[in-house]
Amino acid sequence: MKITLVGFLLVASAVADQCGSHEYNPETHVCNDNQYVCPILSGEALASCGESCYSYFEYSCDNGKDLVPLPAVDKPFELVTYNLYAPDVHDFPVYACGHRLYFGNGSATCTYCPNMPQLHGLCNDPGLITNRTILLGGSGGYGLATQVPGGQRGFIGPEGGLNYTQAHSASVPNGSQYDGILAYQQGAFIDTKSEFGWAACGQFNADDEVPVWDILAFRKAVVLWDYYDVCAEVKLLVVEADLENGTYVPWQYE
Ligand SMILES: *[C@@H]1O[C@H](CO)[C@@H](O)[C@H](O)[C@H]1NC(C)=O
Ligand SMILES: *[C@@H]1O[C@H](CO)[C@@H](O)[C@H](O)[C@H]1NC(C)=O
Ligand SMILES: *[C@@H]1O[C@H](CO)[C@@H](O)[C@H](O)[C@H]1NC(C)=O
Ligand SMILES: *[C@@H]1O[C@H](CO)[C@@H](O)[C@H](O)[C@H]1NC(C)=O
Ligand SMILES: *[C@@H]1O[C@H](CO)[C@@H](O)[C@H](O)[C@H]1NC(C)=O
Repeated sequence: MKITLVGFLLVASAVADQCGSHEYNPETHVCNDNQYVCPILSGEALASCGESCYSYFEYSCDNGKDLVPLPAVDKPFELVTYNLYAPDVHDFPVYACGHRLYFGNGSATCTYCPNMPQLHGLCNDPGLITNRTILLGGSGGYGLATQVPGGQRGFIGPEGGLNYTQAHSASVPNGSQYDGILAYQQGAFIDTKSEFGWAACGQFNADDEVPVWDILAFRKAVVLWDYYDVCAEVKLLVVEADLENGTYVPWQYE
């Protein structure tokens, strides 16, 4: 497994800082309220709620002590990447193309619209959504917001990729997972079955190559690791989509 924390390797010293009565390494941990040490996970310095550490993107802290999961998103949404410690993979819109979700300056959404009069404009009119990827949550899984009958279902493939089905087909590769994937309101899109969240992985052969990062469930068992040159931990954040009249979705994603 080749996991490189992009933007993270340059700082390799093991300096210890003081947090109240505890020593901690400021490259891997954060000191909250001058007394609680919490880890930095997937580019997020965890917050403190009483003595617990938590992610702002998964919980709220009630009464200064009780962790409460954020509500599930109930609107169509887009994903944006997050890792405050790795600028190469931070703050990119996530797109769907080639039956996988990915991002980076070299990425784009791939949509298809049949040439049917009643669908005119859904894909190709200026200003309509051709460069965004709109997802739907619910029932512990996710799907793509499409017009095509039957929709397109999201899943994690047996190799660890964040994939979706073809239009007109419910078939997924053997060993795929489509449950345990949650999207929180104003929070994160998470795979509850991954030990470490998501990884962004890219192949970079030439210096002038425009970056494209695939998104994988960050698990020990993922078989695609060797295929990539570099991977970085990343969070996926949910941004509710401002869909006028709910119609600005493509017929299908390719
Ligand atoms: C991506 O494109 C933006 C805008 O052109 C640029 O500022 C940024 O440096 C690029 N990022 C990478 C990683 O290529
Ligand atoms: C999509 O394209 C519009 C119009 O060109 C642009 O303003 C917008 O920033 C793009 N959105 C994304 C997520 O790339
Ligand atoms: C799933 O996603 C991975 C990573 O992006 C990709 O390599 C793979 O081809 C996709 N699998 C399917 C069945 O689309
Ligand atoms: C899918 O996997 C299950 C369990 O490993 C196996 O029993 C089944 O034969 C497989 N199906 C196909 C079509 O490969
Ligand atoms: C949305 O629906 C309203 C009311 O039906 C209509 O007036 C408006 O033009 C629609 N907007 C678009 C962008 O289609």
